[in-house]
Amino acid sequence: MTALTLSTSAAPGLRADAIVIGVAKGAKGPVVTPGAEAVDKAYDGKLADVLETLGASGAEGELTKLPSPAGFKSPLVIAVGLGAEPDGGAGYDAEALRRAAGVAARTLNGAKKAAFALPVEDAAAVGVIAEGVLLGAYSFDVYKDNGGSAKAKNGKAPLAEATLLGGKPRDAAHKAALARATAVSEELNRARDLINTPPNDLTPAAFAAIAQRAAKEHGLKIQILDDKALAKDGYGGILGVGGGSAATPRLVKLSYTSPEADKHLAFVGKGITYDSGGISLKPAGHNETMKCDMSGAAAVFAAVVSAARLGLRVNVTGWLALAENMPSGSAVRPGDVLRMYSGKTVEVLNTDAEGRLVLADALWAASAENPDAIVDVATLTGAMMLALGSRTFGVMANDDAFRTAIHEAAEEVGEPAWPMPLPEHLRKGMDSPTADIANMGERMGGGLVAGLFLREFVGEGITWAHLDIAGPAFNEGGPFGYTPKGGTGSAVRTLVRLAELTAEGDLG
Ligand code: BES
Ligand code: MN
Ligand code: ZN
Repeated sequence: MTALTLSTSAAPGLRADAIVIGVAKGAKGPVVTPGAEAVDKAYDGKLADVLETLGASGAEGELTKLPSPAGFKSPLVIAVGLGAEPDGGAGYDAEALRRAAGVAARTLNGAKKAAFALPVEDAAAVGVIAEGVLLGAYSFDVYKDNGGSAKAKNGKAPLAEATLLGGKPRDAAHKAALARATAVSEELNRARDLINTPPNDLTPAAFAAIAQRAAKEHGLKIQILDDKALAKDGYGGILGVGGGSAATPRLVKLSYTSPEADKHLAFVGKGITYDSGGISLKPAGHNETMKCDMSGAAAVFAAVVSAARLGLRVNVTGWLALAENMPSGSAVRPGDVLRMYSGKTVEVLNTDAEGRLVLADALWAASAENPDAIVDVATLTGAMMLALGSRTFGVMANDDAFRTAIHEAAEEVGEPAWPMPLPEHLRKGMDSPTADIANMGERMGGGLVAGLFLREFVGEGITWAHLDIAGPAFNEGGPFGYTPKGGTGSAVRTLVRLAELTAEGDLG
């Protein structure tokens, strides 16, 4: 990952491949944003005019390259759009800064060093610019090896080094913001790697082994239940879903404990390493990206490790429900009844509604520890994508205040989210003539039906929320802001923020 430093050096003397500056949309055309004074001065104070001549407007996502003025040690200036100039006194929007830094970092992939001269008003700005750079520079080229020649990779390596000008290397708050951004971005990028790793390599056992290594590195407690242990303990949901695959399922419990904690959060992640649909096989066109169906587990994993690296004063337990959903002679069939870990029976009407089955077992296991709250994260339904599009995740909960808190935390960290209801009348659609409940109900409101199913497997009296990240988990379009194509790391930053708020006593 990109190595980030803070520097109070002046832009002209910096030896770098490029200097990144901000340009905003002013009332009368583009304006150069604070932080770029030295660059503007070298253009005789006419940089805004130069940019306008080049067609720049300051719109978000816009990128303009121009040669450096005389006397600069770096050859290139990159101007990134920050959107509308804030009204007098107000600072630049955090998400606009993150995205602009990300756009610049992405175009700088392959380069050695860049200096970022964006508006740094406070430590918070240092944090968001750092996140934008570290997340925007991400690339996944592990499998692009030109037939084994290590030297000639097809992909471009992420920008190697970045300096944030205006960040004070000896200021405690600035340093802390950089350290936080680095830890969270590093883990978030690791989550992206897991999501992008093809399913023939990332099996449930392989994912569990990666978690085991991370646990050792960060002093986390880990418990891995393999298929034999799952059978012994009665995890019928996870075993049912994983039964069709030669790659056997796992349930991973990862615990971070702080000696100063008085709250306990449980995060539960859907970890379907590949979702073929099972016997209710998905048609061609619907399964090419289904390696992303473990994005919830990847987010939970990254959030628990982040909490440990940040030393948060809260206990966080992560549950990774790992299985591969495949059709075979040993696969669960439509019509089968599973006895779940909670003791409830489920009639499987559609084997493609597998996420709720593995989550149900993990939610019940998480409930046994009676945490203060449980949050599950899952690429659960296509219906949620239809409802909210591909960039926003849905938030459902059995507690209105908790749902609102999560929505606000998501907004704060720049993750689009929206509250969704759990309408009681949809429950009866899951009534089964044979079992306690069926794994499918009405088609309309399918995302909410899935939420209602999960609710039945949360222990009595436990505050719970469900994030359906089916839309934002995997970006099938082109990259934008600091979001790459492929695995995005959706929900990681929201979960980390929730853990921080809980540690600070501002939640629940
Ligand atoms: N993993 C899918 C949901 C999904 C779809 C995630 C597209 C990301 C992109 C999930 O397991 C699934 O297949 N859900 C079904 C449920 C239905 C059978 C009740 C769906 O949404 O169609
Ligand atoms: Mn499915
Ligand atoms: Zn799925």
